[in-house]
Order: sequence, then C-alpha cells, then structure tokens
Amino acid sequence: MLSMTFFAIAPGAGLPGLETPAALVDLDRLERNIARMASYARTHSLALRPHIKTHKATTIAASQLAHGATGLTCATPAEAGVMSAVCDDILLAYPAVGPKLARLMALPRALSLTVALDSAKAVDDLARAARAADRPVRVFVELDVGMHRVGVSAWDEAIALARRVRDSAPLEYAGIAFYPGHIRTDLDSQDAALAALGAAIKSATDALGRAGLAPKVVSGGSTPTVWRTHEIGGITEMRPGTYVYNDRGTAEIGACAPEDCALTVLATVVSTSVPGQAVIDAGAKALGREPMRGVEGEGWGALLDRPEILVTRMSEEHGILDLSRSDWRPSVGELVRVVPNHVCIVVHLNDVVYGVRGERVEKSWRVDARGRSQPMVTS
Ligand SMILES: Cc1ncc(COP(=O)(O)O)c(C=O)c1O
Repeated sequence: MLSMTFFAIAPGAGLPGLETPAALVDLDRLERNIARMASYARTHSLALRPHIKTHKATTIAASQLAHGATGLTCATPAEAGVMSAVCDDILLAYPAVGPKLARLMALPRALSLTVALDSAKAVDDLARAARAADRPVRVFVELDVGMHRVGVSAWDEAIALARRVRDSAPLEYAGIAFYPGHIRTDLDSQDAALAALGAAIKSATDALGRAGLAPKVVSGGSTPTVWRTHEIGGITEMRPGTYVYNDRGTAEIGACAPEDCALTVLATVVSTSVPGQAVIDAGAKALGREPMRGVEGEGWGALLDRPEILVTRMSEEHGILDLSRSDWRPSVGELVRVVPNHVCIVVHLNDVVYGVRGERVEKSWRVDARGRSQPMVTS
C-alpha cells in the first residue's frame, strides 16, 4: 500500500494534483441529495433505510443517519460488519445461507439485525444460527412483485414462511420486503406499473392479515421509483441506494436531474493519435461495463460538461471518446470528468473517493465496505 507523503494530497488541491482515474464526488450535490431524500421521507412519514451498496462508506452512511435515516440496508454480511461501526439497526436485504451466517451472527449483539429471505431453508438455517448465537433476528418475508429475482409470488407461500418464522424463536416475524427493480422507465410513465405494484402489495398484506400475520413493516422502493414511493399503498419503509450519488441511467429516466449526479470519474486524455476519437485513462476497470438499463442509450458513460461525448469503446485501462458529434478536440493531458452509467459498480472499483467543491479537493474517504473481506487460508 502506497501511503508515502509524496503521494499525499493537501485539502484545497486542484484537480490536476490527482492521479487519474479517480472517483470524485461533488460535495454540494451529495449533501443536497441526502437532504432531499430525508425531507421526502419525512414529508410522507416513511422510514428511510438507505441501501449502502452505492457508497459503501461509513462516512456517508453516518451523514444519512444524521439526516434522519432510521437504519441502513446492506447486501452482504461483510458490508453489515463495516456499517455496524456507525449504525445499530441493519437490514440484510439478501437471503443469508451457508457460511455467510457465521459472519452475520458475529455482528455486535447490540445491533438490531433484520434479514429478508424467501425459503424455508433460509428460515431454518437462520433460526439454527440465531439459536446457537443466542440472539434475536428480525425477519422480513421477501415478495416477488415483478422483478423475478428473489421473493415468493404466491401469497400462501408468504404466509407459510411468515408462520415458520413466527414459530422459530429467536427469529421474529417483522414484516415483508420487496424490490421493484423491474420498474426503470421514465418517472412519468410508471403509472400502470406502480398501480400493479400497489395492488400486489395490498393483496399480499390482506392475505397475511387474514392469516393473523399482518406485517408491521412493509419495506421496499428503489431510486427509479423513489419520488413516487408514497403512491405505493401500505409501504412503511423505503430503501433507495443510488440516489446518494445518482448516475447517467438515473438522470436518463428523470429520477434525478443531470445536475444531481454527484459522482464522476476524473480521467486524463492520454492519446489523440487516431482521428475522430480521444483516449482517456478510464476504461472498464474504472467505469465498469454497465449498459444503460431500461432506457435507450449508447456508451459506457458521458462527459459531465459535454454530455454528447460518450465513452463508446473500452479496454481495461482505455476509454475511447467518440468525437464525431462535436467540434471539441481535446489535447493529450487534458482532464475530463465522466458520468458513469451505473455508479454503484464504479464506487466498488475504488479504494478512495475524493470530495470536491468546484475544482478543489476538500477531503477524501475510504470505500471501507468494498470487497468481501474474506479470510485467508492459514497454515
Ligand atoms: C434489495 C434492494 N433494495 C434496495 C435497493 C436500492 O435500489 P436503488 O439502487 O435503485 O436505489 C437495491 C438495489 O439493488 C436492492 O437490491
């Protein structure tokens, strides 16, 4: 690990002082995004439990909590372990089976832990682990409301799982969870999909209620649907993740404005030798290789100040800017900032993120929940 003073960056340094590619976060935009979501949740009396998979950083999670988030959502026990340093109420929105359970049970005992799951095996394994660790674990039964990824879509199965949880102390049946990741259209054209979603949630909660298993918590939501979460009848808790930084895909569907995209990849033009293009030092290992999801759109990212310029091809460390739609002809050494298609993947590729105001670097933070923190084999 290189941590020599030679590589240190003083607060107030200009962007040319950074080695590229580097992940930059516009602090004004970040602070605005966090405050705006907290205000939306308050206005609609919804509990806000942001998904940390987007920023994977305790410092950002602490800011979300300081703005009124009631807890955090994680996708892996390793993320939950890191986040337990700043939060005492964590939802693992992922079925925990196998050796993951050991890491989960090692979380601080004072932490209120909730797990979302969708199978009898997951209930039984979690109950066994919780019993051995002698700790209560709250459980959400996961519903499939259209994404067809995880979750049960037959409500008698949901009832059977909720009953199984209720009968498996120290597990506690706490409610239901869903993720509407299949809704990725323009905000204004979500009416039918949101109506179908609301109807599915209502029929599930009615069926659970008739079985004496009315869910106290109905946890769901995503960034593409976020500003319409209050229209989903019965929802009590929202779990957006991407909103904290936003990205090109989120802006494209109108779930944020282009000026709400807080994270960009700072890159240097390293070659202009091939006519009609410029090559930057941000390739697939800096931008990820995520297509635009749900909406039309070419490329792997667009320039912040020149959105018509796209990264149209990539190697691992080369990104090719297509200049055919512009008169702009950059020089070797020039800096550009790329708005990635899907920001969560980009964050995960970085050890450190730089917080900037305007053109000045104000601070940096570690992406401390990145990676899987797997144990080594020891002799
Ligand atoms: C289970 C779950 N909840 C919440 C989220 C947050 O969604 P978004 O990133 O659209 O805000 C995700 C995203 O992958 C998810 O998988």
